[in-house]
Amino acid sequence: MKKGIILAGGTGSRLRPLTAGVSKQLLPVYDKPMIYYPLSVLMLAGIRDILVISTPEELPRFETVLGDGAQLGLRLSYEPQSAPRGIAEAILIGAEFIGSDSFALVLGDNILFGDGISRRLQSLGEGRNATIFAYQVRDPERYGIVEFNREGHPTAIVEKPAKPLSNHAVIGLYFYPNDAIDLARHLTPSARGELEITDLNAAYLAQNRLSVERLGRGYAWFDAGTADSLLDAANLVGAIEKRQNLKIGCIEEIAWRMNWISTGKFRRLGESLRPSEYGRYILDVCDGIR
Ligand code: G1P
Repeated sequence: MKKGIILAGGTGSRLRPLTAGVSKQLLPVYDKPMIYYPLSVLMLAGIRDILVISTPEELPRFETVLGDGAQLGLRLSYEPQSAPRGIAEAILIGAEFIGSDSFALVLGDNILFGDGISRRLQSLGEGRNATIFAYQVRDPERYGIVEFNREGHPTAIVEKPAKPLSNHAVIGLYFYPNDAIDLARHLTPSARGELEITDLNAAYLAQNRLSVERLGRGYAWFDAGTADSLLDAANLVGAIEKRQNLKIGCIEEIAWRMNWISTGKFRRLGESLRPSEYGRYILDVCDGIR
């Protein structure tokens, strides 16, 4: 998988007034901006060519935070989404960027981590199938959900059902073959006026081309769209980081461990962030202390 898209749009209405002056995906999740987490997931999947999509108003802020990506050995580009017309629209906005490649799409408010995730994502084939990820939750009515038959094969995928027949939520990370662009072009807006990613995934399921990877216990997944999930995600990241003395979603460290930047460059990034614990962490990793 060579290309990745991060969709960081929306108005953050469920987080008002937190989002009055700053976009949701730039809010802190413990010690780093939220978007570091989905970016780190794409990086752990080995993806370096990444398009960031946000509202025309917020896009410049993301550019300020992440730049052109060269400091991380990445190539970052930016495109606006002029109105919240759905997750699947990101594929249409990104069509030129995607070109003839397969690609991954991740939502800017999705926080996912767990041991071995890099290997797992990198081992996904680039075949004809789309791959989505299912995560068991207590409140499936808040999400797209996937139903399975007794053999464990997916049978239906439904967006925010009032009476969910499964508690497996579809997380905001999707791997698609190139023809997702064509399929997305044929989607029609839902009742809420959006091109639904669930409709695209349902189209793959109808063609028997949908792979569902289940994420069991040991993985953490949050969609940090409410005050509670934002706090839960921050608390979990903080607890693990303090306990293990290791960071989750440290994009500089991932770039260095992937051999995309030299140790000298990595150290300079740490120095530039120095007065913070985050900067000290990078310098300690350089020195082999952590
Ligand atoms: C979106 C998708 C939904 C998915 C969720 C994951 O929901 O539509 O299928 O489960 O992201 O974060 P939304 O954020 O649009 O409510």
